[in-house]
Amino acid sequence: MANVPKVKLNNGLEMPGFGLGTYLSTSNEIAEAVKYAIDRGYRHFDTAYFYQNERDVGGAIKEKISEGIVKREDIFLTTKLWCIHHEPSRVEYACRKSLENLGLDYIDLYLMHFPVGFSYVDENTLVPFKEGTYNVITNDVDYLDTWKAMEALVKKGLVRSIGLSNFNAEQTERVLKNCEIKPVTNQVECNIELNQKKLIEFSKQRDVVITSFCPLARPNPKERKPSFLYENPTKAIAEKHNKTPAQVALRYVLQLGTVPIPKSITKSRIDENIEIFDFELSPEEMKVLDSLETGNRIAAFSKIVDNDHPYFPFKAEF
Ligand SMILES: NC(=O)c1ccc[n+]([C@@H]2O[C@H](COP(=O)([O-])OP(=O)(O)OC[C@H]3O[C@@H](n4cnc5c(N)ncnc54)[C@H](OP(=O)(O)O)[C@@H]3O)[C@@H](O)[C@H]2O)c1
Repeated sequence: MANVPKVKLNNGLEMPGFGLGTYLSTSNEIAEAVKYAIDRGYRHFDTAYFYQNERDVGGAIKEKISEGIVKREDIFLTTKLWCIHHEPSRVEYACRKSLENLGLDYIDLYLMHFPVGFSYVDENTLVPFKEGTYNVITNDVDYLDTWKAMEALVKKGLVRSIGLSNFNAEQTERVLKNCEIKPVTNQVECNIELNQKKLIEFSKQRDVVITSFCPLARPNPKERKPSFLYENPTKAIAEKHNKTPAQVALRYVLQLGTVPIPKSITKSRIDENIEIFDFELSPEEMKVLDSLETGNRIAAFSKIVDNDHPYFPFKAEF
């Protein structure tokens, strides 16, 4: 079983340096995947209110706790405040709703999913589109006000750590300069094609860990995309280490200094993805992989959220 090192957070707590993503999977399939992953040594799980699978993920964890396989303190569970709950008066409600869904007493890490707030219509309207369009109705809630309400959750003991997701460097700095409790992480898209080197360096200097989502760039085997999973030079590097291209891709973001959270509901891949702690890419191999950066971004916010919104994060260089 892989020995996953822990990463020290700026609040003194620790986070396993590798985890299981859960986006786009609900009910039995994700519950089975989480239970299998726990058996295979995974201890860090990433969900979100938006994924509508908190019940399944939390239920699976609770089952493994009641079987005596793990204790609650062995598990690191991340969930996220969704954009319709950015109004400070809604933050505690949203967090308690996540806790209720998860069936847990506390959340290890609660992230602000995205810096832009969406208009609240009702609990079931997670993405309020302007009629007849795919443009989201956003609001102008300042993410600093949302952050202050998240700080209160730590003080109340509902969550152990708080963090950001999809924030650019300037926005991260603004939070750091105005906060009482520092974000421990910024969870961002990071893979061979979008290696985030500048944001990683910026965050490292400020003791904010980068967590890498879409570390495999959400593969599409039919189209053989991303090419780094199917072609050289990744393929050749993988063969040299007796590993798969996916393992090389995950090892690459790990060696960039980030915490990868690949998602899989497939047993063989859950096994494959965590086996990245027994080899090392050389500086030359890292350089070759660096050269595959295209800047391509997968997470779809850019397509639905007005890119001119003052808090839209992806217009900045990093
Ligand atoms: N904060 C945010 O805004 C944000 C955005 C996106 C994602 N996330 C988080 O990050 C996690 C990971 O990102 P993601 O799920 O979007 O993308 P990803 O992990 O890059 O890709 C997941 C896809 O890769 C497949 N896969 C997994 N291991 C594989 C392997 N070894 N070889 C080939 N294919 C493999 C999975 O298929 P199977 O499941 O069928 O095995 C799934 O279709 C998410 O699940 C979520 O928890 C956060």
